Amino acid sequence: MTSRLVVVSNRIGDPRKAAAGGLAVALGDALSESGGLWFGWSGKVVAGGARGEGDLHLQPSGKVTLATLDLGSDDHAAYYAGYSNRVLWPVFHYRLDLAQFDDGYFEGYQRVNRLFARKLSTLLKPDDIIWVHDYHLIPLAAELRALGCRQRIGFFLHIPMPPPLVMAAIPAHDMLMRSLFAYDLIGLQSEADVAHFARYVEMEAGAERLGRDQYRAFGQQVCARAFPIGIDVDEFQALAQTPESIETRETLRSQYPLRQLLIGVDRLDYSKGLPQRLRAFHRLLADYPENRNSATLIQVATPTREGVESYEDIRRELEGLSGQINGEYGELDWMPVRYIHRTLARRRLPGLYRAGRVALVTPLRDGMNLVAKEFVAAQDAADPGVLVLSRFAGAAEQMRAALLVNPYDIGATAGAVQRALRMPLSERVERHQALLAGVREHDVHRWRREFLQALQAAERAPG
Ligand code: G6P
Repeated sequence: MTSRLVVVSNRIGDPRKAAAGGLAVALGDALSESGGLWFGWSGKVVAGGARGEGDLHLQPSGKVTLATLDLGSDDHAAYYAGYSNRVLWPVFHYRLDLAQFDDGYFEGYQRVNRLFARKLSTLLKPDDIIWVHDYHLIPLAAELRALGCRQRIGFFLHIPMPPPLVMAAIPAHDMLMRSLFAYDLIGLQSEADVAHFARYVEMEAGAERLGRDQYRAFGQQVCARAFPIGIDVDEFQALAQTPESIETRETLRSQYPLRQLLIGVDRLDYSKGLPQRLRAFHRLLADYPENRNSATLIQVATPTREGVESYEDIRRELEGLSGQINGEYGELDWMPVRYIHRTLARRRLPGLYRAGRVALVTPLRDGMNLVAKEFVAAQDAADPGVLVLSRFAGAAEQMRAALLVNPYDIGATAGAVQRALRMPLSERVERHQALLAGVREHDVHRWRREFLQALQAAERAPG
């Protein structure tokens, strides 16, 4: 690619930092190749409001320039905690009951998108190619276009696209969807998401379908396609060789020699289905008593968005449920649930996954879910663990060899966990081989390559 790549996201990851995940590494590679720019929020909130303004910091990181912006407290509250995480996040995850519509949130969201556009536009070169990430920045291209920016701009939504009538509950849904048409390419996680987008624009905006993935509406044309995100398999497998990872695995294997370990690793988010998961585990102990004194669930729930009320509620619910299960079934020398409400070092994850017999990845709704893919990548191919995966995770479209469950069906989920715990080695190996082949084939590098190729090739509407 000859153009410079500019990545824009709310949070930026320094690709050179040890904690960087596969996404930061993959985007970092693409940015390094083109001497690119990564633009986003600095992570700093400046006291006193600073409405619609913010200092821009430019910092080199290898061949990449990190350009970050501080946000005023009012802007941050309305744009991030407000519109992004009290409106878009719940609605896009089908939780209208948790959405808090507030005009001030939307104003702050637009204000910060306008600010991002203004600051970014001063850094752009004419043949840059711009890749915007996630729901915090949907209107960014429209704001950039209003400033005269004519570069190619692509957008990738990391979270689900809801069905049209769920989307339509957002008071400004038409403005939001209209602003998507300022992009040249819209990337979504799954075919289900693309179908929702297509139905929305056809029903609500009278869009015309031009060919397989071209849509014309609001006087503009856009290409929308599924680009399922993946992981960097080699990076994750290399992490499995770190001393921290090996130590984690050895410790857990010696503590649990029978390896009846169930593993869950999630942000503590209501979309992850954690209460349902604990209830399914409770049901497993109740209905299949051979698991008492034997099966243990290690649930790591990473703290997240703690200022938002619905996150505090889910935390209380989980603490209650794990205490209840431990009280009811715990013994002097065995506790069924190990609940860890902290961030676990990324380097320990492969060891934790490898010690597990079963991974529970049971979100109620999820854009993709990379824990499912990382669990598969971390397994010992000769004696692999089993993935129990929600059919409502984007990953379920590809990972058909997992045990797919409906997380709302507690009894059926408990039954699937029991099946996973008892699964013969030959079936575990067969399923794991199929899953690993898919995880390798659809890795994060392919995702990045295919998106950027499609963006380069996207047909542009005249004008
Ligand atoms: C999801 C979103 C990301 C977000 C991440 C962590 O994966 O798709 O855009 O960065 O959650 O959430 P946070 O609010 O801490 O950035």
